[in-house]
Amino acid sequence: MFARKINDRVFCLGSVDWDRRLFDTLIPLPDGTSYNAYLIKGSEKTALLDTVDPPKTDELMAQLKDVPKIDFVVSLHAEQDHSGTIPRILEKYPEAKLISTPKAKGMLIDLLKISDEKFITVEDGETVSLGDKTLKFIYTPWVHWPETIVAWLEEDKILFSCDFFGSHIATTDLFVTDEGRVYEAAKRYFAEIMMPFRSIIKKNLEKLAPYPIEMIAPSHGQIFKNPAFILDAYNDWVSGRPKNIVVLPYVSMHESTKLMVEHLVASLVDKGVKVELFNLAVTDIGKLAMALVDAATIVVGTPTVLAGPHPYAAYAAFLANALKPQAKFLSIVGSFGWGGKTVETLAGMIPNLKVEVLEPVLCKGQPGEKDFRALEDLAAVIAQKHAENGFT
Ligand code: FEO
Repeated sequence: MFARKINDRVFCLGSVDWDRRLFDTLIPLPDGTSYNAYLIKGSEKTALLDTVDPPKTDELMAQLKDVPKIDFVVSLHAEQDHSGTIPRILEKYPEAKLISTPKAKGMLIDLLKISDEKFITVEDGETVSLGDKTLKFIYTPWVHWPETIVAWLEEDKILFSCDFFGSHIATTDLFVTDEGRVYEAAKRYFAEIMMPFRSIIKKNLEKLAPYPIEMIAPSHGQIFKNPAFILDAYNDWVSGRPKNIVVLPYVSMHESTKLMVEHLVASLVDKGVKVELFNLAVTDIGKLAMALVDAATIVVGTPTVLAGPHPYAAYAAFLANALKPQAKFLSIVGSFGWGGKTVETLAGMIPNLKVEVLEPVLCKGQPGEKDFRALEDLAAVIAQKHAENGFT
């Protein structure tokens, strides 16, 4: 991809990674991703904001072929998909200074072995002049590492937000053209890496509220010319007001747990509760994470195997515990053969979740009438709890 023009002095560089299907060897990327770097040409100085993932270095270097001078390289976030090519940039432009926070400086030295004298560190709210353009650096910790900042280009009213407001999408469209598609990708991205830091992200959103933002340029995915769209979405996701939704990840070995889950789903729907159902044997973990953003209740369906929950169910519980969704209630349903500690084991795996645990429904072997009635009772309790709390 060639450098793409945002305006006469601001350019989007970087790489569209059409083929990438996994991030951090963990997170599914069904639509690929992009690593966006931004070049800003002031009347006196030129700045490069972030770089690209190291396998894409040659692409970025080709885009910089005709750029004779870079005065500042800015690292908004030390993770290597944005910082990994900084050493090559500093080699090509030996006079360039690397702007980061003091915390990021330490991380960049650890991760990339960049020498101390290359750095200029900036405090929260500090500005750097490029002549007729001014970059202001705003600390936005935990989106999603502790050192993360955003850059505000005052004259153009562009917010460069790195991972914040990003989405994993590979496309040749520089600007958002399909808000529905971007909403889905941005929510998935929020769920996978931002959700655990919901409270501090809320504060970061409040901190950015006074800025008259006209454009948000993240370092993954497309640029927002309608910033309200993504700002509103983020404000909703961090609101602390879950919706009238049950997320139900389950696994079944011999259909008994499946029968229970199907009956519970039907009972919940009958009582006006929406259900997001995930068969853990085939599910996309990113979709499950996304559903957890809004759910008021999580119900895990698992058979007892080897005296505890099925490993897939344990994985889902571990993931939910790490992502810290805003759900308020949790329960467990499933079938067992002769005994075990499924409930105790799963309950012990979710210390981070601030949930009320609703009476689990476990049955021996295939579920019978008594078990189906218990599942209907559980559905009634969930519907009532949602209604009492005003979750709609
Ligand atoms: Fe896109 Fe946290 O790196």
